[in-house]
Amino acid sequence: MIGQSLIKAKEFLLRGELVAIPTETVYGLAGNALEEKTVAKIFEAKNRPTFDPLIVHTFSTYQARKYVNIFPNWAEKLAEKYWPGPLTLLLPRNSLIPDIVTSGSDLVGIRIPNHPLTLNLLKELPFPLAAPSANPFGYVSPTTAQHVADQLENKIGYILNGGTCQVGLESTIVGEKNGNICIFRTGGVSIEEIESTLKKKVEILPSTSNPMAPGMLEQHYSPHKPLFIGNIPKLLEEFSDKKIGVISFSKDYSHLVKKSIVLTKKEDLKEAACRLFKTLRQMDKEDVEIILTEIFPDLGLGKAINDRLKRAANKRK
Ligand code: TXA
Ligand code: MG
Repeated sequence: MIGQSLIKAKEFLLRGELVAIPTETVYGLAGNALEEKTVAKIFEAKNRPTFDPLIVHTFSTYQARKYVNIFPNWAEKLAEKYWPGPLTLLLPRNSLIPDIVTSGSDLVGIRIPNHPLTLNLLKELPFPLAAPSANPFGYVSPTTAQHVADQLENKIGYILNGGTCQVGLESTIVGEKNGNICIFRTGGVSIEEIESTLKKKVEILPSTSNPMAPGMLEQHYSPHKPLFIGNIPKLLEEFSDKKIGVISFSKDYSHLVKKSIVLTKKEDLKEAACRLFKTLRQMDKEDVEIILTEIFPDLGLGKAINDRLKRAANKRK
């Protein structure tokens, strides 16, 4: 059921059931983060491997502190600047957070989402919410309540409708590795912003097939149709026998292909990021056989867009 009732959402969550929640990044599939049984339902509904840990959502830094042992100085600086917002911090957890949430890791990913409905809901609950993106594992993340309903409606008690997500890409994940501050996943806060807040360079960890670095899986965020990324004119030649859909940054290819979608006519990376997932879903429904896309400008949110596209893409020999 889709609706806007905080009372209903709260009722389901208090009963240990799952509710899809709007955030500024993507919709989350939420449940009581302190209840192992409820968290297990999240993995099951998403068909998600249990080695891939979940992010815990709180409504305040004060509440976040209840679940971590140390809140280091770098994390404080980032929390102060970007919370509520599209930033997840990996921090040493305490025993209130069950193993299943972190896939056994000593670190827990925590963030305060910036969406008024969800912040109100979190304020009303006696527990934080564990919530991965509300899509079947491996598929494109949902940026509207309808996206969630399209794939998971029968597995979720309630879908809280908070409109279209304003950022449209998942949170940036920042943590410490071997004493250095690292970006575990690029996202809604750009690397440039993080570096300017911390006044130092940070390392971006590469995506990998190594399950010890979950959520950084090489293949992820994929539409059902084959997607190829590269120089569009060249790809058009290579796939000239196919019905093609193109997702481009700012140039229109309507005269050459079955369907062409420009993400931002004004070359605005924020707008492109916001429309990316919705457009991938749309292309999956269009009468095309393959999806072609290009590398976006490699700065600001462009880095996160490129990360998602590369991982959505079919591997080439
Ligand atoms: O914007 C977002 O972050 C959204 C909204 C719903 O908050 N959530 C989201 O969750 O993108 P999900 O489950 O799709 O991605 C979570 C990723 C994991 O795959 C993993 O890479 C990382 O966060 N993560 C979470 N907890 C971690 C931990 N303890 N250690 C390492 N990585 C962790
Ligand atoms: Mg996800």
